[in-house]
Amino acid sequence: MTLQFSLDSAAPETADVPCVVVGVYENGLLTSAAARVDSAAGGAIKRQVESGDITGKAASTTVLFAPEGIKAKRVLVVGLGSQKSFEASRFQKVNMEAARVLSRLPIDSALSFLTEVDVPSRDTAWRVRTAALAVDHATYRYTATVKLREKNGQPELSSISFAGGDNAQTGLDQARAIAQGVLFARELANLPPNICNPAYIAQKASEFADGEAQVSCKVLDHEEMAKLGFGSLLAVGRGSANKPKLIVLEYKGGAEDEKPYAFVGKGITFDTGGISLKPGPGMEEMKFDMGGAAGVLGAFISAVKMGLKINLVCVVPAVENMPDGDAYRPSDVLTSLSGITIEVLNTDAEGRLILCDALTYTAQTFKPHTMIDAATLTGACVIALGKYASGLMSKHDDLADELLRAGETTLDRAWRLPLWDDYHVQLESGFADIANIGGKNAGAITAGCFLSRFTEGQRWAHLDIAGTAWDEGRKGLATGRPVPLLAQWLIDRAG
Ligand code: BES
Ligand code: MN
Ligand code: ZN
Repeated sequence: MTLQFSLDSAAPETADVPCVVVGVYENGLLTSAAARVDSAAGGAIKRQVESGDITGKAASTTVLFAPEGIKAKRVLVVGLGSQKSFEASRFQKVNMEAARVLSRLPIDSALSFLTEVDVPSRDTAWRVRTAALAVDHATYRYTATVKLREKNGQPELSSISFAGGDNAQTGLDQARAIAQGVLFARELANLPPNICNPAYIAQKASEFADGEAQVSCKVLDHEEMAKLGFGSLLAVGRGSANKPKLIVLEYKGGAEDEKPYAFVGKGITFDTGGISLKPGPGMEEMKFDMGGAAGVLGAFISAVKMGLKINLVCVVPAVENMPDGDAYRPSDVLTSLSGITIEVLNTDAEGRLILCDALTYTAQTFKPHTMIDAATLTGACVIALGKYASGLMSKHDDLADELLRAGETTLDRAWRLPLWDDYHVQLESGFADIANIGGKNAGAITAGCFLSRFTEGQRWAHLDIAGTAWDEGRKGLATGRPVPLLAQWLIDRAG
């Protein structure tokens, strides 16, 4: 279930809601909503500022219960930090923290005035959209396979309103569509691999297409792919009883003759490493190795829900990487769909092996305007950029800039790495046209370089989301990234 969003023009002191949310900067500087609450409540906020109970420290929170003079039963006071350094990502953070507190209160709705605070070079629509998505993100719970979690019978947060006028409406509409895409991506990626296998992803994609007049879905099975020559992709799937699928979604929202934009997402539903088996500890996180697939499907859904006037295709190679008597092995030479032969030096570098065929298929079949792939491709990218930035690689400076900008707009940020020809020597093979690994240096880049060999002549970019697609740890959840970035990029293209 997604949270319901709306706009509200009520005043903070008279709004008839279970909770209103207002912000306070460091050093006791009240926002205008906080000041109105304070004066209607006879100085209730300032008194707590003076006592030191309310500090205004970024993302600190205080709940005032039943303050006199205020219609709402509760006022949530959220610290905004220093006003001078207040900026976009702090705005996102305080909205998330507010949501976390709201979701623990026994209330079903709230009205937030945090959307009224100034954020340098961001307009009202941006603030409403970002706040809505932040709240939606922070209140997400995974329940699909949790059966015994007790309900306490108390109301749960199901809707939130934001202070904002009609000029914020587009922000709210976009937030609803992006939230749906993010939710789809998170739910899919969080599911265990015994449920979310290639056939399951195909089924979810085709169910979505069934409900949308302008969307069609085609799924190629391993036999069809064998006929077409997907020698690289199929090799990766050979060790698994869950056979590979190639999922193809098409959205026709633009003119008939307009070239489509194309997304390709890595859909390894579980990555054991294959014969080059991964170590046991942490292997469970490799259920998220279909995060790229989840991300591009989510962005596709967002685009459709926004009714963008573009043509868009989404191609997902869905494969499980398992060791087996029939599994592919190090030293195997594969013939890819493009005809390029590949020497397998490590069966754990499997993502590029399914993506290369999917990219070739997408380029040949759709002749796209632009092609973008998203993949949890390398541990090296996590070492380089950590969990905050996705790795962006492209030989097209203009495309790279478009994507970096979309990342800044949504705070779903990427950082560019080079794809210079210099790196290609690392992929040389004595037994095939190219090797599937490039040694220990620059692992994220050599993976990108590998893909670049299969996208020649295409306007193409690669997003390595290995560090950003999920939060690590026992209870780490899928983040839904890069749905916001890709959805924003499409919004910008649609004009
Ligand atoms: N799915 C992994 C990459 C990965 C690892 C993502 C850890 C997130 C966290 C990918 O298939 C993989 O195993 N890559 C190898 C490549 C290596 C063998 C060249 C890696 O990064 O170690
Ligand atoms: Mn791997
Ligand atoms: Zn992988």
